[in-house]
Amino acid sequence: MNKFWAQLSEHRRRTSATTIVELFRDAPDRFQSFSAECDGMLLDFSKTSLDETALDLLVELAEQADLPSKIAEMFRGEAINVTEQRPALHTALRAQSGAAVMVQGQDVMPEVLHTLQRMEGFAGALRSGDHKSATGAPFTDVVNIGIGGSDLGPVMATRALTPYHDGPRCHFVSNVDGADVTDTLKGLDPQTTLIIIASKSFNTIETMTNANTAIAWLRTALGDQASEHLAAVSSALQKTAGFGIPPERVFGFADWVGGRYSIWGPVGLPLLIAVGRENFRAMLSGAAAMDQHFQTADLRQNLPVLLGLVGVWHSTICGYASRAILPYDQRLARLPAYLQQLDMESNGKSVTLEGEKVTRASGPIVWGEAGTNGQHAFYQLLHQGTHVVPAEFLVAASGHEMELSHHHDLLKANCLAQSEALMTGRSVQQARELAQSRGYSGDDLDRMAAHLTFPGNRPSTTLAYPRLTPFALGQLIALYEHRVFTEGTLWGINSFDQWGVELGKELAVALLPLIQGATDPTKDGSTLGLIAKLTPPKPKH
Ligand code: F6P
Repeated sequence: MNKFWAQLSEHRRRTSATTIVELFRDAPDRFQSFSAECDGMLLDFSKTSLDETALDLLVELAEQADLPSKIAEMFRGEAINVTEQRPALHTALRAQSGAAVMVQGQDVMPEVLHTLQRMEGFAGALRSGDHKSATGAPFTDVVNIGIGGSDLGPVMATRALTPYHDGPRCHFVSNVDGADVTDTLKGLDPQTTLIIIASKSFNTIETMTNANTAIAWLRTALGDQASEHLAAVSSALQKTAGFGIPPERVFGFADWVGGRYSIWGPVGLPLLIAVGRENFRAMLSGAAAMDQHFQTADLRQNLPVLLGLVGVWHSTICGYASRAILPYDQRLARLPAYLQQLDMESNGKSVTLEGEKVTRASGPIVWGEAGTNGQHAFYQLLHQGTHVVPAEFLVAASGHEMELSHHHDLLKANCLAQSEALMTGRSVQQARELAQSRGYSGDDLDRMAAHLTFPGNRPSTTLAYPRLTPFALGQLIALYEHRVFTEGTLWGINSFDQWGVELGKELAVALLPLIQGATDPTKDGSTLGLIAKLTPPKPKH
């Protein structure tokens, strides 16, 4: 493997002076060779510095890393999450073929499908009004209380599928900041609001705190009947019982579904309530189609693999520290936040599966914003800053607002203009001509030309799809999940654990008494100074 890493670095060193524009000049059909499509989802990675040799080497690297067998192991339910000794089988939640998926000698599919049917039954009854609130009225609103994987997926997907909403309104509370639960419950009627407590562990302090506050809110209106307005989603079923939630409104999932990979099962309940069974199943089908593609397509035509190889090229070989997720799709506005968890919690690691130190750059910093809004915020840096940030564009051929197709034309034009501008830039000569046409001369012209010059040669990829349907959303999320797995496999890390989030949680629990008045002189001076500053003055009597 080391041989291929070295060859890639050497190839990069030799070819880094060649621009992407030159690559297109040398191979006008570059778009055909550096793009791939699956079920209408197109990945264009021709606007990157990858050439045939680099792609060959990356594919060899993937083969050396046994990527095809690792993919098979994941789908077979092997315990690839070695530090937690369990499989990573989120793919089972969207498998609808009926084929067996074995975990420790047992087919898990009957249980998965049974839970899906129970979710559908509950969501259907809520949507039709058959399942009534304690007051006998239909539920009008659903509040999902969860954080991280128990929030980001449902929030992102529920927003993405707004055109398909025809159920009760869905709201989300995640932050332990009391402002979140207060602002969300304000204006809602406890008599017609259902609270879903979503937590894989049923132990997360933010979620438990918010849940208790919401239950108290229900109790003031409903008294003992408050529990009729509760449902729970968790893998810790014994803990949900402690909240007095009856088993028929508790939806469980196995511990082999990672939090950030859990949108496909009970964690997706708010989405299912919002869009209904058919749309939810269409999203599962989109993901299952991507699963099939990931398992069977040749590595050179395999969308998640290719996106992963481009990611490794940018992160490890080119040394670009971050990647920008830029959906030209307003309803994907929460995709960057969702991918931050999916990608950074999975691949933000510096230890290999064998417990050794990672010697190359692994997962990059992921950030982004919907286009065109981002253009008016941070694109200045993308075009002319000193950091090169690979940009990942997403765009649909059509929006849902057919009567506003001129908006969509503008959206697409902006998206394509950005990737073109990043690639081509504007040369000093072109900048001088522009400055001249604007009346500059002499020293002023030189100065102005410097400001008007764009270096160009900045890489981007584009995912293009017909429309943001439930099927396309499923494809997209699964594509990113498998991209993360591909990259993790090449870096030799476990993409399914998250030990890095534990220390801060432990320290927060230890710090709470100090915030509430206890003392601990062994704490560092900064922490003690900040505690003093954050202690409100005692009220004067
Ligand atoms: O913050 C880390 C984390 O464990 C995530 O991995 C997870 O998605 C989130 O907390 C929420 O966990 P839970 O669903 O158990 O409340």
